[in-house]
Amino acid sequence: MVSVYPRIFFMLLFIQLVLCLVEFKNIKCDSLDSEFDAFEYCLLKSVNRSYKYLSLKVKLYKVPITKVKVNFALLKKFNGYKPFLYNITVDACKTLRNPKSNPIFGYFHDAFKTFSNMNHTCPFDHDLIVDKLNIKHMDNQFSRVLPFSHGEYLYHSEWYAHDIKRAIVEVYFNLY
Ligand SMILES: *[C@@H]1O[C@H](CO)[C@@H](O)[C@H](O)[C@H]1NC(C)=O
Ligand SMILES: *[C@@H]1O[C@H](CO)[C@@H](O)[C@H](O)[C@H]1NC(C)=O
Ligand SMILES: *[C@@H]1O[C@H](CO)[C@@H](O)[C@H](O)[C@H]1NC(C)=O
Repeated sequence: MVSVYPRIFFMLLFIQLVLCLVEFKNIKCDSLDSEFDAFEYCLLKSVNRSYKYLSLKVKLYKVPITKVKVNFALLKKFNGYKPFLYNITVDACKTLRNPKSNPIFGYFHDAFKTFSNMNHTCPFDHDLIVDKLNIKHMDNQFSRVLPFSHGEYLYHSEWYAHDIKRAIVEVYFNLY
């Protein structure tokens, strides 16, 4: 008995440490309406082994935007990418006003808001930027908030403005 608890404790600790390794693998951004929006850039960059970041900029041609809906889904690769844990759609304007109303949206928003000018409530009347969102920040978020297991994941998001789908952003990442 005496030896079991420490072992469980170290197992949990080990799981925590293992979950701390997140690596971005790829990013894809698609504008679905070139008269409404266009991606100026959408990239991953490896500065060195421990510093890899994600940046994107989308130009908006019809501002202000007062109505935004986002569908985001997490997929995990088993035999192809399969839905995993989340597939939700939120009224972003409403949720940005009251982030606590949707903890999952709050979680994803927390993950990038300090790296983005999407850090305020609607309307949006400027180009949108995510600047050097880095993996260290994601590590903390993931290991602290979600009990994910190892594997290859895809974060798929669809962006609607005034009820029309305008863009798709996909981020592929691995958890080791
Ligand atoms: C990686 O690059 C970052 C940013 O330039 C730097 O702060 C960090 O010290 C570098 N790490 C290593 C291991 O070279
Ligand atoms: C999310 O759910 C919707 C509605 O059920 C479905 O149409 C869509 O394909 C799902 N998204 C993903 C990425 O699986
Ligand atoms: C939002 O982001 C912009 C650009 O990074 C920054 O200048 C501004 O201070 C931020 N606002 C808040 C409320 O964090």
